[in-house]
Amino acid sequence: MIVYYSRTGNTKSLAEFLKDQLSAEIQEIKTNIEEKGKINFIRAGWQAVKKFCPELSPIRVDLGRYDLVLIGTPVWALTMASPIRSFLKTYHSKLPAVGFFATMGKVGSESTFAHMADLVGKKPLACLAVSEQAIKSGSFQPKAKEFVISVRTYLEKKMCHNILLGDNSKQGKI
Ligand SMILES: Cc1cc2nc3c(=O)[nH]c(=O)nc-3n(C[C@H](O)[C@H](O)[C@H](O)COP(=O)(O)O)c2cc1C
Repeated sequence: MIVYYSRTGNTKSLAEFLKDQLSAEIQEIKTNIEEKGKINFIRAGWQAVKKFCPELSPIRVDLGRYDLVLIGTPVWALTMASPIRSFLKTYHSKLPAVGFFATMGKVGSESTFAHMADLVGKKPLACLAVSEQAIKSGSFQPKAKEFVISVRTYLEKKMCHNILLGDNSKQGKI
């Protein structure tokens, strides 16, 4: 399962790419807050700094059905976007293994991933950071494919493990 938030489409492009590569299910996180425009850009930055958790639109996903959830965010003020903070605070106890991906102008992915790992309470099995420029030019693909390989390797091992345990319910499900 891929869960992501995207205000202007960059993280969405990356999430869709990963979805196609991994044949994963996908869920976009949304809020009821108006997000476009300069005022809302400033508000988004302020909310990220203040660790504000906006209310999310309802999510109808049973996270327990998956072996792995990939969580994607834009970098906001060197941390995760506030809707992803809300998601992690609400659902951290239901998350299986996780991987993180982020898009950004230039900097802040490492602190973002560290803050996300703190909220989830476990280390991600892989992380992928891509610049906005690389998304727009398409040059992100080789790096994203390396991430996909790490994820696939994890899922294959998980599937073998599940079979050995006689658990046919997930079979490396993403
Ligand atoms: C409020 C706000 C804060 C941002 N802070 C950073 C930052 O700290 N570092 C950075 O490299 N880019 C920063 N950016 C740029 C975004 O991370 C980048 O444009 C990202 O690709 C947007 O993803 P999206 O199109 O999925 O919303 C910021 C953007 C916004 C709106």
